[in-house]
Amino acid sequence: MGSTALPGQSVFLHGGDYNPDQWLDRPDILREDLRLMKLAGVNVVSLGIFAWANLEPREGEFSFEWMDHVIEALHGNGQQVILATPSGAKPNWLALKYPQVRRCDAQGRREPQQLRHNHCMTSPVYREKVRIINTHLARRYGKSPALALWHLSNEYGGECYCDLCKQAFRQWLRERYKTVEAMNQAWWAHFWSHTFGDFDEVDAIDPHVNGLALDWKRFTTDQTVDFMRAEIAPLREFSPQVPVTTNMMGTFEGLDYWRFAPALDVISWDSYPLWHSNRSDYEVASDTAFKHDLNRSLKRRPWLLMESTPSNVNWASISRPKKPGVHRLACLQAVAHGADAICYFQWRKGRGSAEKFHGAVVDHVGHEHTRVFGEVAAVGRELAAVKDILGSEVRAKAAVIFDWENRWAINSSAGCRHSEKNYEATVQRHYHELFRRGVAADVIESTSDLADYQLVIAPMLYMLKPGVAGNLRRFVHDGGTLISTYMTGIANETDLVFTGGWPADGLMELFGVWAQEQDLLWDHQSQSLLAVPDNGLGLTGSYAARHYAEVLYPRGARVLATFEHEFYAGFPALSVNSFGRGKAYYTASRNDDRFHSDFIGGVLSDIKLQGSHGSALPLPDGISVQVRRRGEREFIFVMNFTESRQDVSVANRPLRLEPWGCQILRVP
Ligand code: GLA
Ligand code: ZN
Repeated sequence: MGSTALPGQSVFLHGGDYNPDQWLDRPDILREDLRLMKLAGVNVVSLGIFAWANLEPREGEFSFEWMDHVIEALHGNGQQVILATPSGAKPNWLALKYPQVRRCDAQGRREPQQLRHNHCMTSPVYREKVRIINTHLARRYGKSPALALWHLSNEYGGECYCDLCKQAFRQWLRERYKTVEAMNQAWWAHFWSHTFGDFDEVDAIDPHVNGLALDWKRFTTDQTVDFMRAEIAPLREFSPQVPVTTNMMGTFEGLDYWRFAPALDVISWDSYPLWHSNRSDYEVASDTAFKHDLNRSLKRRPWLLMESTPSNVNWASISRPKKPGVHRLACLQAVAHGADAICYFQWRKGRGSAEKFHGAVVDHVGHEHTRVFGEVAAVGRELAAVKDILGSEVRAKAAVIFDWENRWAINSSAGCRHSEKNYEATVQRHYHELFRRGVAADVIESTSDLADYQLVIAPMLYMLKPGVAGNLRRFVHDGGTLISTYMTGIANETDLVFTGGWPADGLMELFGVWAQEQDLLWDHQSQSLLAVPDNGLGLTGSYAARHYAEVLYPRGARVLATFEHEFYAGFPALSVNSFGRGKAYYTASRNDDRFHSDFIGGVLSDIKLQGSHGSALPLPDGISVQVRRRGEREFIFVMNFTESRQDVSVANRPLRLEPWGCQILRVP
C-alpha cells in the first residue's frame, strides 16, 4: 500500500512561507530569492497567506499582477506553489467599513482592528468578502501548473461572542436538542434557576453550566469548520483537482481537529518545539513525536509539516537557535512519523514588525553563507536523496486516546481537584513509555475504530460519549489489551455524571472494579503502592503516587498492587480483569516514572508487542527509533536527541550515533 500525501507527489516537498508581498518595492530581492531557493533545494513555497491588502487594496479593486509575476517566476525556477486563501488577516478597509467582521469578547466588547486571526466566523459580510477573493484566486490560479495545494487561511482559532455568533449558537442548539426541555435536562439547567424557557434565552456562556460551556466549544469548532467549508467551495468549483489543507496547531485546545479532518484532503501542521529549553531535548522530542502521530492519525496517512523554524522562534520567553545538527534531526523526525513535506516559517526575515527576528532560511545578512542556510540546503539535498521513503506508511499496533471533548470536560468541570488536572500531560506520559521503547503509536479519539490495535491506552477517559464504552468492551472482548487510569467513565457527553457507580456505562464489568471514592492529594502529600508478589508484570516493591488516588472495590478483577497509606491502605491500586479474550487494566493513582516503565514494559512483554529495534526494552535515554514501511520494506529511523555520541543496537546491528545524529536503515 502506501500513497503520498499529495496525489502524484514525486519528491518530498521542501520550502516554506514566502512573503514577496512585503518586498514588492525590491525586485532585486525577489530575483535573489529565486537564486537562493535553488541553492536551498526549495521546491515549494506557501504564498499569499497574509497578502489580502495587496491583492485587494481597496474594496472591489483587485491587483493580481504582482502575484502572476511571482508565480510565473517561481514556476520557471522549479518551485511549486501552495496558495493560501488570505482570510487569516483582514485588510483595514474591510475591518473599518464593516465592524461586524471584528470579534467580540465574552463581555460583548468589539475588538479594534489589529493583530490577525481574529475575524468573526459567522459574519455574512466576512464570508462574502472571503468568497469573492477566494473566487478570484481560484479562477485565476486554479488551473495553474504551478499550483500544488490550497492552504486555507492560517491557523484557524479563537472564539467570537458577537450577536451573530450567539444567534448561530442558538440555532445549533435547536438542531441538537429539538426541545428546550431536552436542553435543560442535558445541561442540568434547573440548577441555580438557570432553566431556559426558550432557546433565545441562551446568552452568556456561563461556565458554571458545564454542559452549556461544552456545547459552546463544540459549536466554535463546528462554526470554524463551516467557515472553512465555505472557503473551500469556490476553490472546488474552479480547481476540483487541487487538494486543500489548513495548517493546524498540534494539540491546540480551542478546536477539535477530528472534526476538521473529513473536510480536508491532506493534514498539515505547524510544529515549533522549543529545543534546548527548560526540559530535556528528549522530552521535547517525545512531545513533538506525540503531535506528529496525532496529525498522522487524523487521516492515518502521510501528512505535511507546513511550518517549522529553520532556527529559532521569537515568541517564546527565550527563543534559542537550534544547535548544529538539530535542524536535520527535527526534519527527519517528522519524516519518520509520516511527513511527506518539510516546510518552514519563513523563507526570508522581514525588516520590521513582530516577526522580524523569527528564524528564517535567509537571514537579514541576505546571502547564503550562513550556518542556518547551509543546514537547510543540506536537508534539501537529503530529502531529494531519500525519495524512496516518500508515501510509505507508519503501522501502529498501539494507540493512545487523546480526546478533545474529554479534555474540555475535564478542564471545565469543577471536580475535587482544580490544579494539576494535567489531562494532556498524563496522556503524553503514557505515550512517552511507548516512545522510549520504539513502539509505534497512533494518537486517536475515543470514538475511533480500534480494530487494528493490540494495545489501547485511554488515560483519564472521564467522558464517555455514546458508543465509547461499547467500543472499548468490544475491543477487549475480541482480544485487545486496554490500559486506563483514575478518572474514567464518570460523565456523559453533556457532562452529566453517570449514576449507578463508576467506571460507568458497562465499564465496571469490563475492568472488574468499582471506583467508589476519589482521594485528591495536595502537592506536599503523597501515597504509595506496593506490588503484590507474582503480579505477572514484573512490578517490584513500592512506587510513589500523587495527585489522584481512587478507592477501588474489586468486582472480579485481580489485584496487582495495593495502596500503602490512608484509610484505603490495602485497597487495589492496580488491577487487571480478563474480559472475553482480552485484558483490561485499571491504575487507580497518578504514579511515578518507575511505575510507568515497569507497568507498561510488563504489559508490552505480556502481549509480545516489541519496539522497532526488536525488543520491548527501553532504548538508551535520548534515543528514538521509528519505522516507515512500504510492503515488506522497512525504513528504520534511529535518532539521537542528545548532545553526546550514543551506541545502540537496532535490528541486530550495532550503530554509533553522533550527537544529534540520525541514521536511516533499510530492511531488507
Ligand atoms: C505561526 C503562524 C506563522 C508565524 C509562526 C511563527 O505558526 O502560522 O504565520 O507567525 O507562527 O512561529
Ligand atoms: Zn461573531
